[in-house]
Amino acid sequence: MSNWPDRRILDLLGIELPILQAPMAGASGSAMAIAVARAGGLGALPCAMLTGDQVRGEIEAFRTACPGQPLNLNFFCHQPPAPDPERDARWKQALEAYYAEVGADFAAPTPVSNRAPFDEQSCVLVEQMRPDVVSFHFGLPQAALLQRVKASGAKVLSSATTVEEALWLEANGCDAIIAMGYEAGGHRGMFLSDDITSQIGTFALVPQIADAVHLPVIAAGGIGDHRGLVAALALGASAVQIGTAYLFCPEAKVSPAHRRALDTAQASDTALTNLFTGRPARGINNRIMRELGPMSDLAPRFPLAGGALMPLRAITDAQGNSDFSNLWSGQALRLGRPMPAEQLTREIAEKALARITR
Ligand SMILES: Cc1cc2nc3c(=O)[nH]c(=O)nc-3n(C[C@H](O)[C@H](O)[C@H](O)COP(=O)(O)O)c2cc1C
Repeated sequence: MSNWPDRRILDLLGIELPILQAPMAGASGSAMAIAVARAGGLGALPCAMLTGDQVRGEIEAFRTACPGQPLNLNFFCHQPPAPDPERDARWKQALEAYYAEVGADFAAPTPVSNRAPFDEQSCVLVEQMRPDVVSFHFGLPQAALLQRVKASGAKVLSSATTVEEALWLEANGCDAIIAMGYEAGGHRGMFLSDDITSQIGTFALVPQIADAVHLPVIAAGGIGDHRGLVAALALGASAVQIGTAYLFCPEAKVSPAHRRALDTAQASDTALTNLFTGRPARGINNRIMRELGPMSDLAPRFPLAGGALMPLRAITDAQGNSDFSNLWSGQALRLGRPMPAEQLTREIAEKALARITR
């Protein structure tokens, strides 16, 4: 398939199809990356919730299955928050009735949420494992670490949710910009502002970023089939990054309750919520979002909000009950179809190319 009208991302990242599998911490691993790479797209390994050894194992699994294929390692790069015991206590207090209801031990110490930022250790891992692509969410790491990532030979991507963020990423060393529209599932990649009214949809965001920057643009958010890919290219993107549509594939690591919610929710049934981690993220509405949010000033800063929910989830997840679990999903969820990720990637590309070249 060499007839793509815009080859900038294909040439930059060494892939055949203008489709990047979204890294989805907790929901995707090497199986998904392998399937997408086999089709000719870019597979990704989300590292935010893995130990260094787990990341090494996943990279080895990928490289054994897809020798020589490029791989995207994805990291969060938030500032860990200053301790705020009062806020933590207020948040836990707000959950007390739920602890009583499900039989969780309210007096036990609150577990610590496990989303880690890119740091010295992650940088050494990149230098040793030399992935072809490194992508960041929530901006970029400090300049010295970023320099080392670039010196390792990796191409650097990061998400922009506004034109201002795209310009900042271009000025600070990115090789391509992921334009993440409001429709997208998971955490908003926003990092220059925490005002959610600044967040705009993919159709408005992509062409305005494409006009503002010189770098190639990857459209993300609400793209679930070939029509979204064709539209994104028409809007000035060189490729797309797809998340939610891959959650329906057998390679996705979603709980049975999450899968049930994905299978039954309506497109209008997602919202931005900060309850699960402290940062706004899009997920399918559930009980705690309806009763305490979806956005709440009580939630501690990212990623600490998740800690006090862990004891509730430990009990309810096992019962197949998603009242207290994040059900990340984008707005285009009803485009999702249960099929292997390799087949989905090929099908989106083939149908898009047929439309573009007819
Ligand atoms: C379950 C889930 C987890 C996600 N986790 C990450 C992540 O770890 N890192 C990241 O950069 N983006 C993450 N995202 C955002 C995606 O990279 C992407 O921007 C988004 O899925 C695109 O919108 P769509 O879901 O409408 O396809 C996640 C999205 C979902 C749905």
